[in-house]
Amino acid sequence: MADTRAVLDSEEYPDTEVQKDRVLTLEEWQEKWVNHNTGFHQDQGHQLLKKYLDTFLKGEKALRVFFPLCGKAVEMKWFADRGHSVVGVEISELGIREFFMEQNLSYSEEPIMEIPGAKIFKSSSGNISLYCCNLFDLPRANIGKFDRIWDRGALVAVNPSDRKRYSDVMLSLTRPGFQYLLSVLSYDPTKHAGPPFYVTDGEVKELFGSVCNIQCLEKADVFEERHKSWGIDQIIERLYLFTEK
Ligand SMILES: C[S@@+](CC[C@H](N)C(=O)[O-])C[C@H]1O[C@@H](n2cnc3c(N)ncnc32)[C@H](O)[C@@H]1O
Repeated sequence: MADTRAVLDSEEYPDTEVQKDRVLTLEEWQEKWVNHNTGFHQDQGHQLLKKYLDTFLKGEKALRVFFPLCGKAVEMKWFADRGHSVVGVEISELGIREFFMEQNLSYSEEPIMEIPGAKIFKSSSGNISLYCCNLFDLPRANIGKFDRIWDRGALVAVNPSDRKRYSDVMLSLTRPGFQYLLSVLSYDPTKHAGPPFYVTDGEVKELFGSVCNIQCLEKADVFEERHKSWGIDQIIERLYLFTEK
């Protein structure tokens, strides 16, 4: 217990530059899905989101919720089952198809006219729409604005040099009164190349602080067996809530 507290209170890692030029291509992400190299996926959903779901929803009805870099996140179904409408974006068509199959949802697919080669997959009930394209192309599809954004495995998966571009897209998708939950990870970046990439508290504030009030809701020790192969022995998750300034 004392150890966990010491880790949670520890300073951030000083070497923030070591991952800055690291690049993963869209093809490399797609290959991860083909090779079932998807250790980031959580079958039971995200425990901190479960804990803060009521705070996040504030009892509001029929919200539009955005999932950047959604993978096959089961949390999309949590929101849809509560009557909200979910929009996600994911480059892997395989990941999107797996989502609908594993959640037992029938779906249709059609091309996105504004983005050549891209497709949209929609649940038959109409409340989950997943865009299969590069997130950075998505604004061309005019997907509207959102009341909530759930950002897990998203900012931390974007190439570090694209973070500003990413936060600009995210902020352009927010509607007045929005709430945005962001999960980031803190570990020694000299030991693991990422993704996920290490994002400092300072960078979160730099990217979102001019437009949002930022509150860190929780810091949690999320070290698991699989992290040992990354060469690290501690990893902390920080959950932030952004609201409109
Ligand atoms: C770390 S995973 C996280 C998935 C999901 N958010 C979760 O919590 O399970 C990142 C996902 O983003 C997708 N991805 C990476 N870069 C992307 C981009 N530029 N546009 C769309 N999807 C992207 C990858 O294929 C991968 O499924």
